[in-house]
Amino acid sequence: MDNAAIFKLSYGLFVLSAKDGEKDNGCIVNTVQQVTTTPNRITVAVNKGNFTCEMISKTGAFNVSVLSTDVPFDIFKRFGFQSGRDVDKLEGFEDYARGGNGIIHLSRYANAVISGKVVDTYDLGTHILFIADVTDAKVLSDKDSVTYDYYHKNIKPAPQKTEKKGWRCKICGYIYEGEELPEDFICPICKHGAADFEPIE
Ligand SMILES: Cc1cc2nc3c(=O)[nH]c(=O)nc-3n(C[C@H](O)[C@H](O)[C@H](O)COP(=O)(O)O)c2cc1C
Repeated sequence: MDNAAIFKLSYGLFVLSAKDGEKDNGCIVNTVQQVTTTPNRITVAVNKGNFTCEMISKTGAFNVSVLSTDVPFDIFKRFGFQSGRDVDKLEGFEDYARGGNGIIHLSRYANAVISGKVVDTYDLGTHILFIADVTDAKVLSDKDSVTYDYYHKNIKPAPQKTEKKGWRCKICGYIYEGEELPEDFICPICKHGAADFEPIE
């Protein structure tokens, strides 16, 4: 099987946000898609280790900010490379607003916001698939949406030269030092699996 075929699938990139009591949080995901129009339903797959997954499992509601091509790498670092369990991701951040459901969404670097109310979940092992009714949706700008491909080619910084030997995460640049990368290895920074690692040349 040629795993490279999987990388030919195209994805968008999003900030998936939630609110539990006074706690606001969000993480980067690439797994949002519309699955039916009547009713208007979307799905999103979220790693069980993510705080955002725990929050949505508990509250059953979220917003999706559809990232646009003006988004800087800092947004990925803020929402995708650290956990809301350890930090307040909104500290020092002003580019957000609240939707009618009280949950934050990006007010800049996103061309649309879609609100979801969870109607079902599916346990995928490592991830939970949330199936949600679209309860609100708003266009914020006419800029193009970011695709995963665009992120890799235009947003993510080029890998730094290193003396280290091992494997580099293609998503965030984390380096695993060692001859063999364990098959079940999960990147501690961005939670992507072994398939998203490449050997350091
Ligand atoms: C480009 C990119 C794509 C990502 N896609 C997903 C995804 O589809 N599902 C997921 O659960 N995590 C994904 N992540 C990882 C989470 O954003 C990351 O683990 C985040 O730190 C979790 O934060 P939290 O613990 O506050 O929820 C992605 C990260 C990046 C940088």
